[in-house]
Order: sequence, then structure tokens, then C-alpha cells
Amino acid sequence: MQRIGFGTKRLAGNAGDRPGVREHAVELLRRAIELGVNHLDTADFYPSYAPPGSPAGEFEPLGWAKDAIREALAPYGDDLVIATKVGPTKAGMCRPDELRALVEADLQALGLETLDLVYLRQAGLPSVAEHFGVLAELQAKGMIRHLGLASIRAEQLAQAQEIAPVVAVQNRYGVGYGRVNDGILQTCGEQGIAFVPYFALTAESRETGGVSINDVIQEIADRHGATPAQIRLAWTLSRGDHVLAIPGTSSQLHLEENLEAGSIRLSPEERTVLDSVTD
Ligand SMILES: NC(=O)c1ccc[n+]([C@@H]2O[C@H](COP(=O)([O-])OP(=O)(O)OC[C@H]3O[C@@H](n4cnc5c(N)ncnc54)[C@H](OP(=O)(O)O)[C@@H]3O)[C@@H](O)[C@H]2O)c1
Repeated sequence: MQRIGFGTKRLAGNAGDRPGVREHAVELLRRAIELGVNHLDTADFYPSYAPPGSPAGEFEPLGWAKDAIREALAPYGDDLVIATKVGPTKAGMCRPDELRALVEADLQALGLETLDLVYLRQAGLPSVAEHFGVLAELQAKGMIRHLGLASIRAEQLAQAQEIAPVVAVQNRYGVGYGRVNDGILQTCGEQGIAFVPYFALTAESRETGGVSINDVIQEIADRHGATPAQIRLAWTLSRGDHVLAIPGTSSQLHLEENLEAGSIRLSPEERTVLDSVTD
């Protein structure tokens, strides 16, 4: 799998569902594949957007990313991995007995017989064991190829690993976020699990999107003839060979720019500086 994939949360940009947005998203998805992307990250609530004035953590789900993926890309290429997430619903975290229906809905929406990678996106669970156990049963039935976990703590990774192999962990991580997920990133590396961070670019802005202006990052970007977004992605990838990136964008220019970040090599000194940047 290419190390830089494409997150589908931002397909609609920040202007909501105005006419033409979905058609643009379909074109963007096709362009991503043309450029070599073979890892798409999606979920029921994508794309989403934060109307002007929303607090950083709030968004409105538009919910048509899977339809756009199918329209753009089916029949899918053999090497394409489409990762989906189950767990959170409008009513909060789903019950374990609701997971099968969510997986079936994803299969139907994407037009697949087997989902490549399904993350249990936990929200407030003390233990993921019961939910993950259900997903492991669906995997055994052939409905899911690989299992992952999102927004988890180290003990929840251990709970899941007792039940079935976890191939990917998706937690928040990026320049300026602090070192809170360093431990789980390292654990993933030791166990051969892909670490797939979200908000690698948008950092503190979170749901409202955009990339913060930061003088330290700008200076490193200028040195490389790169953009600050590219430096943020290069730093993310520099955290380990098992780290993948899934930047989200509604812009073809940004898509191309983000994919080019894979060729930037930061010096050890630059990496050390970026380790302690705060947004
Ligand atoms: N597991 C979870 O709980 C969870 C949570 C959030 C997200 N995710 C996944 O992670 C993916 C990444 O997160 P994200 O999309 O929320 O945030 P992100 O990738 O950190 O940042 C996206 C924002 O950055 C902007 N951007 C992208 N490339 C840029 C560039 N080259 N220059 C300037 N601005 C740029 C985008 O705006 P433009 O449209 O203008 O480019 C958008 O506002 C999502 O798409 C989703 O698949 C998972």
C-alpha cells in the first residue's frame, strides 16, 4: 500500500452540500486513483463540514462518501484498500448487536462482498472486547478481510488482540498535537500494526479544517521549497515506517501537493524541532 492515502471526510470542503459538490468529489476520487492512491479512508458520516462559526469539535455529517466512492471507482482495482469505520451513530456508540447491520450497510453502499478493512471506532467504551468480538465473527464469515481500531488507548488494543489480529490503529496524531499518542504509535510499530493518524494537517482547527500558520514550520518549508502542509505530512511519515497518512481535501491542487510530500526527507534536526512545535 502507498504510504499516503486519501481521507474522504473533506470531500465536500467547508461549504456543505451545494450543487456540484458531489460531482467534484467523484472527479477528485478518480484523480486520486490516477495519481497512485490505493488507500481510501471513509465512514458513514463523511463527508462532513463545519458551518461557519461552529466550535472546533463540531460538524454536520453529509454521509455520501461511500456512494461517491462507488460511483467514481467501481469496479474497484485489485490493489485498492477501502477502509470503513463502525461504532458511533447519531444516538451515540452502537451496541454490539447493531454492528452486523452497519457492516452490511457498508457492503451494500460500496457494492462489495467483503470489506477490506473495518475499524471499530470506539467512543467511550471501557472495553472494546464485546464489540470487537462481533467484528471478529463477521470476519470469520468472510464479510471483513482485516480489522482495525480507531480512537483507542493502549489497553483497548491489548483487549482486541486477545480476540483477533489488529492490522491498523487510527488515532489523532500530528505536528503540534503533543506526545500523547507516541506510546501507542511505538507499540503499533513493535507489533507490525499500521498506525494511520487523523488530523495530521488540520491540527487544532480539527473539524473546521484548514492548516494553521506556524513560523517554525514555514521556515522549514521554505528550506525545502515545500508547503507547510507537506512538512506536516513529511513529519508524520518520519515517525516510523509503519505510519501511513490519510490527508483529507476537497482540492485537486492540495491532493497533488499532499502526495508529493512523500518524497520530502527531513533532517534529524528538523524532526527534533517539529517534535516540540505547538500550534
Ligand atoms: N477515526 C476518526 O475518528 C477520524 C476523525 C477525523 C478524521 N478521520 C479520517 O482522517 C482523515 C484526515 O483527517 P481530516 O480530513 O479531518 O483532516 P486533515 O487531513 O488533517 O486536514 C484536512 C484539512 O486540511 C486542508 N488541507 C488538506 N491538504 C492541504 C494542503 N495541501 N494545503 C492546505 N490545506 C490543506 C483541507 O482543506 P482543503 O479542502 O481546502 O484542502 C482540510 O480543511 C479524514 O479525511 C478521515 O478519513 C478519522
